[in-house]
Amino acid sequence: MSEIADDVLSRRRFLNRMILVLSGMIGAVLSVPIVAYLLSPLINRPPNTWIGLGRADQFNLGETVQVAYEDPTPLPWAGQTARTSIWLRRTGDASFRAFAVNCTHLACPVNWLATAGLFLCPCHGGVYYADGSVAGGPPPRPLPEYQVRVQDGQVQLLTQPVPIGDPNKP
Ligand code: FES
Repeated sequence: MSEIADDVLSRRRFLNRMILVLSGMIGAVLSVPIVAYLLSPLINRPPNTWIGLGRADQFNLGETVQVAYEDPTPLPWAGQTARTSIWLRRTGDASFRAFAVNCTHLACPVNWLATAGLFLCPCHGGVYYADGSVAGGPPPRPLPEYQVRVQDGQVQLLTQPVPIGDPNKP
C-alpha cells in the first residue's frame, strides 16, 4: 500500500516539475519579443540613408504618387514591415515633397485623393490637406514629411523610422 502511495507521489512530483519546466520554457519564449522591444532603444541602428526613388523626369509636375521602397533602417526583426512607401509630389523642376504614408493617429496607411487634393485615412476618417496638415478627424499631428533631394537626375529620399505616434506630442 505504501509502495503504491510512494509511486503516486513520485509521479505527481515528476508531473509538477515537468509543468514548472514547461511553463518556464513557454514564459521564456514569450518574453523574447517583450525584452527585444524594451531593449530596442539601446540597440545601435544604422544611420538614416539616402535611397533612390527613380529618375526625376518620370514624375509629373504637381502630381502626387505613391512610391514603394525597402527601408534600409528598420529593426533586424522588422520583416515585411521594412517594405514601405511614401507619397511623393513634384513641386518644381528639381524640387519634391515626400509625406509619410502612415496616419499620425494609429498609423494606418493614408490614401491620396487627387480630385479633392486631400489625404484620407480609411481607418477612422482622418483627413489631411495636400501640405500634410490636419484637416479633420482624430489625427493629432500633420503627416510627417521626409527630406528629398535630386542628385544626378535621381530623386533621393532620406529614410527614417516609421513615424508612428509620439505620446509626448499633443
Ligand atoms: S489611424 Fe488614421 S484616423 Fe485613425
